[in-house]
Amino acid sequence: MLDYVSEKVQDESRQGEAFAPFANDPQVYKKKFYIESYGCQMNFADSEIVAAILNETGFGATRNAEEADLVLLNTCSIREKAEQTVRNRLTTFKQIKDARPGMLIGVLGCMAERLKSKFLEEEKLVDMVVGPDAYRTLPGLIEEAETGQKAVNVLLSREETYADISPVRLDSNGVTAFVSIMRGCNNMCAFCVVPFTRGRERSRDAESIVRECTDLFNNGYKEVTLLGQNVDSYYFVDEANDETITFAKLLEKVALISPLLRVRFSTSHPKDITDDVLYTMAKYENICKYIHLPVQSGSTRILQLMNRTYTREWYMAKVDRIREIMPDCGISSDIIAGFCTETEEDHADTLGMMDYAKYDMSYMFFYSERPGTLAARRYKDDVPEAVKKRRLQEIVEKQNKLSQESYRKDVGNTYKVLIEGNSKKSDKDWMGRNSQNKVVVFPKGDHQLNKGDYVMVTVHSSTQATLLGTITN
Ligand code: 5AD
Ligand code: SF4
Repeated sequence: MLDYVSEKVQDESRQGEAFAPFANDPQVYKKKFYIESYGCQMNFADSEIVAAILNETGFGATRNAEEADLVLLNTCSIREKAEQTVRNRLTTFKQIKDARPGMLIGVLGCMAERLKSKFLEEEKLVDMVVGPDAYRTLPGLIEEAETGQKAVNVLLSREETYADISPVRLDSNGVTAFVSIMRGCNNMCAFCVVPFTRGRERSRDAESIVRECTDLFNNGYKEVTLLGQNVDSYYFVDEANDETITFAKLLEKVALISPLLRVRFSTSHPKDITDDVLYTMAKYENICKYIHLPVQSGSTRILQLMNRTYTREWYMAKVDRIREIMPDCGISSDIIAGFCTETEEDHADTLGMMDYAKYDMSYMFFYSERPGTLAARRYKDDVPEAVKKRRLQEIVEKQNKLSQESYRKDVGNTYKVLIEGNSKKSDKDWMGRNSQNKVVVFPKGDHQLNKGDYVMVTVHSSTQATLLGTITN
């Protein structure tokens, strides 16, 4: 049950969602594709690049796998459970294919490299396996697969950023969008498979990022989230203008597009987030006051084994610095319970760190060994599963209390909220977020508002993950 709690928190509500961007014009699109995405926001952003490439190739999207000519799963390898989910889905799709032999099934994303031979040869579950840097080759791979050959491209690249491809916004609310600013990761955290599945870190051309964000704004979007595994190490040299662009500079460039365009970003590595970034955030009202700052563990000894390159004290000082520069900044975290050799004392340090940082929200996991990682090669996965789960439960309970407290403290405050759409429960209520990324729900009343509008809302009560309020003039 516990791992379910943890996955559920991480997964929010989008995991495995099927996407269809717009009505399909059969004159334009002769064939149909169906795509499901798993894992992090990067993967969801990648699916939008894949959709753009497929549209160019004559495939329109469908929400119904049973009518698709091409079924794609964009996969995640970060934890064992994510992989298991994908396997189950593939078995289901194989059954559909048995009834419709012309249909092609493809595995995209992080599982592609690791499991290509298994999927293609041993289990004969799929026709195509395409890694995260090989999406441009999809048209050729589809052609190959259509002739009955197994089509594979899992080559990782040092350059590919898909900078010139305009993503097709899938299942979008028309208000908020993700914009990928870099790919890969060079950090080598001991538990993490990402450097192996997504390759070396590379930053996307700044101009193409600003252009994409400007286009989004011109098309009615009001919020962009700049995405990367480690956004603070963004670094691009614009040779034409003889300019070096750091993440702080990039943030500023995007913020300057319009004061009406909100800017968010994810994920920050505590070792890399600079004062420059914090001051840039403070300077621009439209850069949201919210930082996802994964701590992973509160114990210096475990942090060292994890190769996180900071200590408990160093992280605490970073939290202090954020609060000093932006007293109203929201902070959230990722936390792993039961990493190799973790003792009760280490675990107590993690709980203590949570109290110190007073996270508004956290994604919480128990450690699962991933093949090929530093930890898998160097350390024994020696914390018994029952202990991992108990510690995770304690972490989840602690976070629940912290969240409740954090949301309760907002009661009485007035926030600028960007309306994203109807609340899940009632179309008489709007749902939006404040700058700190907290969900705010409030009655529409007889105000003439639309999604994408900003509105001032005074909070009158709260739950663990929602602020409830009323519109204030
Ligand atoms: N086991 C458990 N959690 C992990 N994460 C990454 N790798 C693992 C693993 N092997 C978590 C980290 C990371 C988040 C995206 O997933 O907390 O920040
Ligand atoms: Fe994995 Fe660490 Fe890179 Fe994040 S920063 S993707 S946890 S290696």
